[in-house]
Amino acid sequence: MKKSALLLCLLIISHLSQAQTIYSPSRKLALTFGLSPAGEPTYKLTFGPKIVLKTSRLGILIQDQPGFARGLTVVRRDSSQHDDTWTLVWGETKTIRNHYQELAVTLQQAAPPRQRVVLRFRVFDDGLGFRYEFPTQPNLKYFTVTDELTEFALAGDHKAFWIPGDYDTNEYPYTTSRLSEVDNAALVKASTALPVRAAPDAQAVATPLMLKSVEGLYVNIHEAALVNYPAMQLHVDRASYCLTARLVPDAVGTKAYLHAPDHTPWRTVVVSDNAPAILASRLILNLNEPSKITETSWIKPMKFVGVWWEMQVGKSTWSYANSADTLDATGQLVPHGRHGANTANVKRYIDFAAAHHIPGVLVEGWNVGWEDWFGNWKEGVFDFVTPYPDFNVAEIQQYAKSKGVSMIMHHETSGAATNYEQHLDTAYRFMNRYGYPAVKTGYVGRIIPRGEHHDGQWMVNHYLRVAHMAAQHHVTVDMHESVRPTGLSRTYPNWLANEAGRGNEYNAFSTGSPPEHETILPFTRLMGGPMDYTPGIFKLKNYEPNHPERQVHTTLCKQLALYVTLYSPLQMAADLPENYSEHPDAFQFIEDVPVDWDDTRILAAEPGDYLTTVRKAKGKDEWYLGSITDENARQQPIKLDFLTPGQHYEAIIYADGKGADWQQNPTAYQITKQVVTSKSVLTLRLAPGGGAAVSFKPIAGGQ
Ligand code: NOJ
Ligand code: CA
Repeated sequence: MKKSALLLCLLIISHLSQAQTIYSPSRKLALTFGLSPAGEPTYKLTFGPKIVLKTSRLGILIQDQPGFARGLTVVRRDSSQHDDTWTLVWGETKTIRNHYQELAVTLQQAAPPRQRVVLRFRVFDDGLGFRYEFPTQPNLKYFTVTDELTEFALAGDHKAFWIPGDYDTNEYPYTTSRLSEVDNAALVKASTALPVRAAPDAQAVATPLMLKSVEGLYVNIHEAALVNYPAMQLHVDRASYCLTARLVPDAVGTKAYLHAPDHTPWRTVVVSDNAPAILASRLILNLNEPSKITETSWIKPMKFVGVWWEMQVGKSTWSYANSADTLDATGQLVPHGRHGANTANVKRYIDFAAAHHIPGVLVEGWNVGWEDWFGNWKEGVFDFVTPYPDFNVAEIQQYAKSKGVSMIMHHETSGAATNYEQHLDTAYRFMNRYGYPAVKTGYVGRIIPRGEHHDGQWMVNHYLRVAHMAAQHHVTVDMHESVRPTGLSRTYPNWLANEAGRGNEYNAFSTGSPPEHETILPFTRLMGGPMDYTPGIFKLKNYEPNHPERQVHTTLCKQLALYVTLYSPLQMAADLPENYSEHPDAFQFIEDVPVDWDDTRILAAEPGDYLTTVRKAKGKDEWYLGSITDENARQQPIKLDFLTPGQHYEAIIYADGKGADWQQNPTAYQITKQVVTSKSVLTLRLAPGGGAAVSFKPIAGGQ
């Protein structure tokens, strides 16, 4: 070899092994990729002069193979810039700008079999996304991931808003503690509602994980585009503040089965020095693929009421008979007389929806199986097409149609996911035949038959199969007890919402959630996508005759504000029609508030304390504001400079009344009207556990 060629070769090798830094478009964030002398890949993230992540390890372990943790060399680097703006089918804004700097590093094992992995980093002004890619190659075809070594080495003992890393549920209240204090052991045991198997790791927390440093840096760690891989949890090292990825295993302890070419989901780190910017980040949606559904006119965000809360509070039941064994002489189920989903009652909800311009009605407990659905771990309990004798599906279809109301189907699988897959096609054809454009699914209890986990790879793929099958039948989906979302609604916009968190229903069947709960949710559970939280409870005390001690931990006005602060294209007005008829003036806000928006501004926010959000209705110059607080009363001054300058608006202000308080006096409220412009300032007074909601509608000719 000539001297000059040798020199060039050495230069390339030394360049390839050197650390490389790329910057976000405005240079706020810097990402440094590195390789240790042992060939271990690492990365580091800074925000201006502040360290977000110290040098943190990367790596994937593979069964019976050397894996991608050490002994790697860089064989290629590619960097590029991307900047475009895309339009949402529905969402918090009309369009989103996707602007980042990318670095893709191809690593190869220095020794045979010389398998390759690509580390792809995208640095945005609001954070970082990165993933592992396994390109097509001769020596890596089918393989089993036994572990992921990704670290997030935090720079200090940050304040963390966390729930336990449970393999099967996210339905916990949030604990606020320092990282050094994370310990979920007692919490997991105290989990009441679901018979689940928890992660054995007492220091594992779920994502999205919200963190705040002593110096006021806000960091959110989650993932985007979770497809064909288990959910990531984080093990917290309480001494070093280093978090390590923990993948939810399958029924036999394996993490993921992959087939090259394939890739992991994106690991996401959203960063800012102010809390509202975390909520304004669209990084997770940007890291998801564009919509796979091209014709989307049938996808309709909507508000709905339902035969639901009455079962939750014990007024009626899902089941028609006491048990599946109670049969009469002709072999029919013997009704017990408290069945909620009977034709007359369903018509009552349809009438209410029609009278109040609520587009949808959900009915639960309509189909045979509820006599022994819970805790039996039996397959085939539900077939999703057989109504109870008192639920006349054809008559209800006709009645709903005549009133211009859409019916929402309910498919509780009771964890029998394979059984559901077997019935999917017939179930969705049944929906098409009887005019149901939307379905709410559910996975209460253990996943049977194999004992998969709700958040493992098999179920992650199951939820996608359901969303895909639903799309083929032009059906929109709302999943309960699923894995928490990761922005996949961009790719499957018919997948409108998930529960996957602790919803309002906990106020019905448990001691509920503390008043701060809804101020934390947007920073945690909602980072990945909309939540079917079921707000709008007006009867906040004494709603359960058998449990007079239970109460919702908010004021009535805070329930109104949640329609704005907790974004979802699917929002339930969850209370009973008779409870709404006690407060028709307050219900007007629920009637007016949209579920689809052109713009969103976070005016004030602090996780665990307060949140004020204002949104512009889709295609209209109307704005809706929601402001909420935790257990502390607050005054919230609001500058209305988001309104169109020069235009006069009528502001209808739904505020906590004198002496309002979530505990003693939750239904005290006051509704006032005021003419305002973009120069006005409103001061909202929020009661302990309270909130305020405001609608702004332009006054005709009010220029
Ligand atoms: C739990 C769901 O969250 C709830 O909304 C539903 O009513 C019950 N499961 C029954 O399916
Ligand atoms: Ca607080």
